[in-house]
Amino acid sequence: MITYRNILESDYKIQERVRLWRNSDRVKAGMLNQSPISADQHRQWIDSLSKKTGLHEVRVSFSDSIPFGIINLRDINTDIKSCDWGYYIGDDAFLGQKLGMRLLYDLTDWGFSEAGMYKMYSTVRSDNLKALHDELQAGYHIEGFLKDHLLSASGELIGIYLIAQFQTEWVKNKEKISSWAKIGD
Ligand SMILES: CC(C)(COP(=O)(O)OP(=O)(O)OC[C@H]1O[C@@H](n2cnc3c(N)ncnc32)[C@H](O)[C@@H]1OP(=O)(O)O)[C@@H](O)C(=O)NCCC(=O)NCCS
Repeated sequence: MITYRNILESDYKIQERVRLWRNSDRVKAGMLNQSPISADQHRQWIDSLSKKTGLHEVRVSFSDSIPFGIINLRDINTDIKSCDWGYYIGDDAFLGQKLGMRLLYDLTDWGFSEAGMYKMYSTVRSDNLKALHDELQAGYHIEGFLKDHLLSASGELIGIYLIAQFQTEWVKNKEKISSWAKIGD
């Protein structure tokens, strides 16, 4: 069973595991910011989350009792009701089992159904076709493309897709997406 717990309610060992996941080459390769995160920076980031209740929340995902990734909503704009988001699988043992799609489904439903967002958006690197594939399947559309915007680890210029979805689209398509994503199986 997949469950979630706020990172602020998770113990130090799990919080530190999140930092190690985020610093791994595989997870970093999907992120815009490639800088390694020190233990101090991580502690400051965790502390900052407690001051941003309702604006930025990070949830750790568990398969039964094993933590394997995170989902988060950030830059929550309470006037427009919009937010940015992110997710990753940290533990390699959980790759290739459609759990990326499951995290994406759960974070999108969290934003629209629980947090009442009107619009959810994010960015995805043009060399991260695996994530883009799932994001399009989960109902997001491409709103823009920033060409030659980042240097990849191998020194090539890559672009960034800007993706978004509206609550009305999610309400209409959620059931279909849930069956594609085999949510509940
Ligand atoms: C993105 C991530 C969560 C996906 O994990 P996963 O579910 O194990 O991924 P999979 O290997 O099962 O691939 C997901 C889908 O992409 C497809 N895919 C893989 N490589 C692809 C490619 N080069 N082009 C298009 N689709 C591709 C797979 O076929 C699969 O689709 P399917 O389930 O319909 O067959 C995981 O790779 C991760 O944590 N990456 C690092 C962080 C990250 O990139 N986060 C997202 C930031 S936007």
